[in-house]
Amino acid sequence: MKILIIGSGGREHALAWKIAQSPKVQKVYAAPGNGGIALEPKCHILPDWADAVSQKGQDRLIAFARSEKIALTIVGPEAPLAAGIVDRFRADGLAILGPTQGAARLESSKQFAKSFMQTYGVRSAESRSFSDYPSACRYAEEYFRLKSPLVVKADGLAGGKGVVLHRNFPETEKTLRAFMQAGILGESGKTVVLEDFLPGSEVSILAGLSVSPGKPSSIALFVPARDYKRRFDGGLGPNTGGMGAVAPAPGFSASAQADFVQAILQPTLKGLEQEGLDYRGFIFFGLMIQEDRCYLLEYNARLGDPETQGVLPLADFDFIDVCTRILDGGLGDFRLSWKSGAVCAPVAVASGYPGEYRVGDRIAFKAGAENRHIFFAGAERTSDGLYTSGGRVFSAAAWGPDLGTAREWAYRTFESVHFPGMEYRKDIGLP
Ligand code: AMP
Ligand code: GLY
Repeated sequence: MKILIIGSGGREHALAWKIAQSPKVQKVYAAPGNGGIALEPKCHILPDWADAVSQKGQDRLIAFARSEKIALTIVGPEAPLAAGIVDRFRADGLAILGPTQGAARLESSKQFAKSFMQTYGVRSAESRSFSDYPSACRYAEEYFRLKSPLVVKADGLAGGKGVVLHRNFPETEKTLRAFMQAGILGESGKTVVLEDFLPGSEVSILAGLSVSPGKPSSIALFVPARDYKRRFDGGLGPNTGGMGAVAPAPGFSASAQADFVQAILQPTLKGLEQEGLDYRGFIFFGLMIQEDRCYLLEYNARLGDPETQGVLPLADFDFIDVCTRILDGGLGDFRLSWKSGAVCAPVAVASGYPGEYRVGDRIAFKAGAENRHIFFAGAERTSDGLYTSGGRVFSAAAWGPDLGTAREWAYRTFESVHFPGMEYRKDIGLP
């Protein structure tokens, strides 16, 4: 069969790499993909097919899927899901994995997600939503009389720029004014969620999810992962798209897992069923853990990046089988089997990232060893090799019997892959 992957990051490279290993797959297309994906066996990129959001872009992809007889399309990033790509492919009779536009609101509207959590009793931080600036300010002023910090979240998609933590009212007021009045995030920031701060450690749980009206729901959980969001060692500096991932997440105990199932997973499934939503795709639970008690920070309507690069090397199953079972509603009796051991996947970024950074530098690399794989993101292929084209350039994923060994292998990769100005965190996977 032929598979089409929508997206261009490290997550999509890891998906393409894993899917190409399936004996059922002849060809994997990535639209637009990246230069690293183009180097994988069976994989082809469509660099001019970057638009999966506009109606015209989606029409073009639908025509491609038809003419190429694509058996299955998998959507990597959130923007095409929020723009209804799944509804449009399905209306044309094409198989695609992902939530419908209505179900993708779990990620594309934080107000919707919070009200869903409250209605169905999914454990999460206390919060209130506001579309009116003076009321938001009054609530925040009152909040700081009792507590601090406060988390301000833009309702809509904001590419990682929509969540800000504040310790006092004047700072909060500035953000509220920028989001709600000046509109620095466009429509995304016109409504905000003001949420209690939760201390703890973060864990990401990815899963295949099959919920559709009239069919029994089922979910298959992936090994828990941890993402390192801050730019610098020790969790310092600005937030980024992710500076590395490890899997399994250290410290996520069996008792935390049981609490997750009872306090978050079960009410989520019940809520999706009761709302009559069609969600046949991947879901991401962003958790905060406090002494084995889980709180849900967010849903993402897709796989995580860079978590996918940390998790898929441990997958000891044919990824296509999971995909078909998600679509057919047959995940219930399907056991995902995972290799033992651990993965460490630090990310190499261009100097200056997440601020302004340079592109167009040549990436020199040798083929990976058996226990390692380079998942490219901001890398472009030209006739004479790969060149940097984004802030996060690649993940150096390595797997071993334990996290310490995986870490050692992963960091060794940086000796054989290099571009001018390459930077990375040195503490991914350290206890
Ligand atoms: P979100 O997009 O809601 O996951 O927020 C992005 C990041 O902000 C999370 O991964 C956390 O690191 C942080 N964050 C969000 N909500 C909270 C909260 N209530 N308490 C503490 N940190 C939070
Ligand atoms: N790693 C967080 C995300 O994919 O949103």
